[in-house]
Amino acid sequence: MTQTHVASESMPRALRAIPAAQLRGRMSVPGDKSISHRALILGGLTVGETLVAGLLEGEDVLATAVAMSAYGADLQRDDDGLWHIHGCGVGGLGEPDGMLDMGNAGTGARLLMGVAAGHAFTSFFTGDASLCSRPMGRVMRPLEEMGTRFLARSGNRLPLAVTGASPVLPLVYRLPVPSAQVKSAVLLAGLHAPGVTTVIEAEGTRDHTERMLRGFGAEVSVETDEAGARHISVPGHQELRPARIRVPGDPSSAAFPVVAAACIPGSSVVVEGVGINPMRTGLFDSLRDMGAVLRFTNERDEGGEPVADLEIEGAELKGVEIPPERAPTMIDEYPVLAVAAACAEGETAMRGLAELRVKESDRLAAVATGLSDNGVAVEELPDGLIVTGQAGRPQGGGTVAARLDHRIAMAFLVLGLLSRDGVTIDDVSPIETSFPGFADLMTGLGAEFEA
Ligand code: S3P
Repeated sequence: MTQTHVASESMPRALRAIPAAQLRGRMSVPGDKSISHRALILGGLTVGETLVAGLLEGEDVLATAVAMSAYGADLQRDDDGLWHIHGCGVGGLGEPDGMLDMGNAGTGARLLMGVAAGHAFTSFFTGDASLCSRPMGRVMRPLEEMGTRFLARSGNRLPLAVTGASPVLPLVYRLPVPSAQVKSAVLLAGLHAPGVTTVIEAEGTRDHTERMLRGFGAEVSVETDEAGARHISVPGHQELRPARIRVPGDPSSAAFPVVAAACIPGSSVVVEGVGINPMRTGLFDSLRDMGAVLRFTNERDEGGEPVADLEIEGAELKGVEIPPERAPTMIDEYPVLAVAAACAEGETAMRGLAELRVKESDRLAAVATGLSDNGVAVEELPDGLIVTGQAGRPQGGGTVAARLDHRIAMAFLVLGLLSRDGVTIDDVSPIETSFPGFADLMTGLGAEFEA
């Protein structure tokens, strides 16, 4: 893989979503972003051939592929879209020649810092303007305790250099914020430690790393204490075995057609092959609480992850209070949930969401501005949003700044479909990070967009 395959400097591109009548049809969404990053990284830590089907070929994941190649792993995509990875073994990566440009990919950057921590050379990380504004101290602190050294820009932001230790020190670490990225970085670093590394999370976060480590033959133990906290432990110096992985459809991408269909009475949509890991399904629970008709059918297990087809019928939704403890299971879905709330009857309150301020953009500010510019009453709290629904179609008519944030761009395109006057997004190019083909797939359901 070479850098020219990815991180293509997409040109800013405005797009307007036109109010949609009913949405109908079947579709599938691209592979899960979280699982795709992990498949490339863990595949690169094995010796032998790992095969990955259904990989998300969005810019974020391709940035991780380029980075793994720079570390010495061999990654090839065949004509059937199957990825063949020949890795270097745990601790066997080589020093990259240049900067690792992670583009917009927070998951790629933070997980690879955990891997870099176990290699006694210096790796240099950078990213786009959004990634360079995001906090990296949350990953640096535990990795420094494990013996790694960092040199970062002010505020512990990218670009930064990480000099790994060999071996790293095993660590017992209680997560100060519920973050699967931080958990995963520490566990990946722990693979290189002479002893057991344990991460303690008070609130469960997505567990794809734990599941996939097991799929690669690693020993991982998970225990829950009396307070309900999960203790995830990995012994170091384990060999990973190559694996075959089928990446399920991303529930965070399915969220957009699901909300669009759920909010237009008479719509009927099936999204096939979506991951329904319970750590990711909070949006679907919340939509059901709001009165949405949403069924999981054809439930099955694919490579250690639960998968189902999602059947959605449009209905009139009502506002609800979203339990704050549900946040880790739907952390990326609040922008599109807020769009559903804008169409519902009554108030929807979402709290406990300070983390949304440090995502690809400040999502609380982005959603509040986008909704109010389209005629929806919304109160922005320090850690949440209260949206007053319109009991039907919001006015729309506004132009929303995507702020280099794919999920803001897609959420407000959905608002446009659900509105009376349509909504314009100033730049939809960030959608390529997670959902290539978004507009075409939505068009297949009956949506219309104009450039
Ligand atoms: C992710 C974890 C979440 C999520 C992100 C993907 C992952 O971030 O928002 O899109 O793949 O581990 P945090 O760990 O910062 O909560």
